[in-house]
Amino acid sequence: MKAFIVNHYGKKEKLSLTEVAEPVVKETDILVQVHSAGVNLLDSKIRDGEFKMILPYKTPFTLGHDVAGVVTKIGSNVSKFKVGDEVYARPADHRIGAFAELIAMNEKDVAIKPKNISMEEAASIPLVGLTAWQALIEKANLKKGQKVLIQAGSGGVGTFAIQLAKHLGATVATTTSATNYDLVKSLGADVVIDYRKEDFKTILKDYDVVLNSQDKKTLEKSLRILKPNGKVISISGPPDPDFGKVINANWVLKIILKFLSAGIRKKAKRLGVNFSFLFMRAQGEQLNQITKLIESGVIKPVMDKVFPFEQTNEAMSYVETGRAKGKVVVKIK
Ligand SMILES: NC(=O)c1ccc[n+]([C@@H]2O[C@H](COP(=O)([O-])OP(=O)(O)OC[C@H]3O[C@@H](n4cnc5c(N)ncnc54)[C@H](OP(=O)(O)O)[C@@H]3O)[C@@H](O)[C@H]2O)c1
Repeated sequence: MKAFIVNHYGKKEKLSLTEVAEPVVKETDILVQVHSAGVNLLDSKIRDGEFKMILPYKTPFTLGHDVAGVVTKIGSNVSKFKVGDEVYARPADHRIGAFAELIAMNEKDVAIKPKNISMEEAASIPLVGLTAWQALIEKANLKKGQKVLIQAGSGGVGTFAIQLAKHLGATVATTTSATNYDLVKSLGADVVIDYRKEDFKTILKDYDVVLNSQDKKTLEKSLRILKPNGKVISISGPPDPDFGKVINANWVLKIILKFLSAGIRKKAKRLGVNFSFLFMRAQGEQLNQITKLIESGVIKPVMDKVFPFEQTNEAMSYVETGRAKGKVVVKIK
């Protein structure tokens, strides 16, 4: 089968379109013919080598963290899916490889694709949808009547997170540039801050939750808009000691993770607020809940561009500009 693989780590490295062996289907795996694959900044960061310490993929390997397609084969112990099912997923770490014609995934990481959206739209959802779900519902326990700041509301995570937070009954503030004002308003944002002209720190106060996806300076400012005991969930780092436990890090890595987040944890403690890091994980059950929200019209995919499979490198470069409005997808079938 054809797949886009990483031969060497590095910022300037391009993925190469290569003929590779079909994936092995284990007992609890399903084999999926990939129709579309979502493109995420995580793909670029892994290719660049930024995640080598946490996710040490051995080259050559196939990249791609979001998939929508059709089940073509099931393992002997699969109970939830049958051949012909239309599915979508964020395959688990160490099982990635959506930039390919076929991918094998554990059935527990997969869900039936929402019936009311296309394969391209479905491939845009899993990673950002699960990120928003795990940040706002699992970690922050966001409740009706609370106030949340979702940074970069016009991006992949932001466009989903705004809709989810509104569904949960929260008041939503978001940052983006003026060109995306109408987009984030249409998704339900109550307060829109143009980050190029205004400073959210001087506008927002007494917030319950911040979903931080930007740099260190923005993270530090986020702590200052919270009410006592409020929570910043950061998806752009730095990783915290709990994350070390989640990934079962060795003691050296645990010390490094503790050190990386020591400063921000100390600042949060001094302000009487909470900081935590989230690295999203594959989760088929949560994706089933997301399917329901999409089918009932509560959440709509926000698509920027669809690239043909051959232009996967161009799709990644486009995402790397940081200007995407919603999601970028490659169409494989
Ligand atoms: N830890 C995890 O599990 C996890 C999961 C998903 C994503 N992430 C990380 O979260 C970050 C965001 O991901 P994403 O996929 O949502 O990114 P994205 O789709 O590439 O975000 C692009 C959007 O960000 C906006 N933006 C750029 N700079 C901004 C700023 N300073 N303030 C506010 N908005 C800004 C842009 O709007 P303008 O064009 O108007 O500037 C654009 O619409 C990335 O670093 C990604 O790696 C982490």
